[in-house]
Amino acid sequence: MNWEAFLAPYVQVVEELKVKLKGIRAQYEFESKHSPIEFVTGRVKPVTSIIEKTRSKNMSFDKIEEEMQDIAGVRVVCQFVDDIYGIVRMLQARNDFSIVEEKDYIETEKDSGYRSYHMIIRYPVATLRGEKQIIAEIQIRTLAMNFWATNEHSLNYKYDGQIPTDVKARLKRAAEAAFKLDEEMAKIKDEVQEAQRIYHRKRVYAKHKEGGPS
Ligand code: GTP
Ligand code: MG
Repeated sequence: MNWEAFLAPYVQVVEELKVKLKGIRAQYEFESKHSPIEFVTGRVKPVTSIIEKTRSKNMSFDKIEEEMQDIAGVRVVCQFVDDIYGIVRMLQARNDFSIVEEKDYIETEKDSGYRSYHMIIRYPVATLRGEKQIIAEIQIRTLAMNFWATNEHSLNYKYDGQIPTDVKARLKRAAEAAFKLDEEMAKIKDEVQEAQRIYHRKRVYAKHKEGGPS
């Protein structure tokens, strides 16, 4: 299998999605509006992980294009839970890709305690041999959900997927605490946003007055 050739369109999709999503963030910033996007990351699944996943899921290699939906993965991290649904509506309204599936792990969290909104999309990418439809996964989550998922992921790695029961229980409590934080923050969202708007205006004004680097 020529992995480099196989993965090339996936690299393209991740790059394009990152540009588009970061562009949205920049537009909000430019208009001094609260950006529903805090940051965007993306990655193409490493070949070793792809191979490992075909083994663990008993997936045949000629099916991975359709069945392994996270070879191209982009993550959108937001400040507030509301922002997630704002992004979701915005993505649903776009016409540069189609949505294959949506999974709301915020409404119903996974057994691990994991929360995020997942969107599986079919994204057309131009290749030398014409248009190719590539499956990609967009994960949308708050900073708190991201903090939890990152730590849980590290522990899964450390324990090779077999996190001890007591640590698991702690993680579940941590997930609830993270969600509580999101709920509390939602209650003071307007105040936080107003403060950030004022701060942003001041910063922009100061920058122009000083004529410093922008
Ligand atoms: P895989 O779990 O990836 O095989 O696919 P699936 O069809 O079960 O999809 P699911 O929506 O469950 O998970 C897709 C992705 O979400 C994973 O690859 C992870 O990036 C993330 N994810 C799902 N569950 C968890 C979890 O319990 N902890 C963490 N840290 N991430 C998770
Ligand atoms: Mg899974």
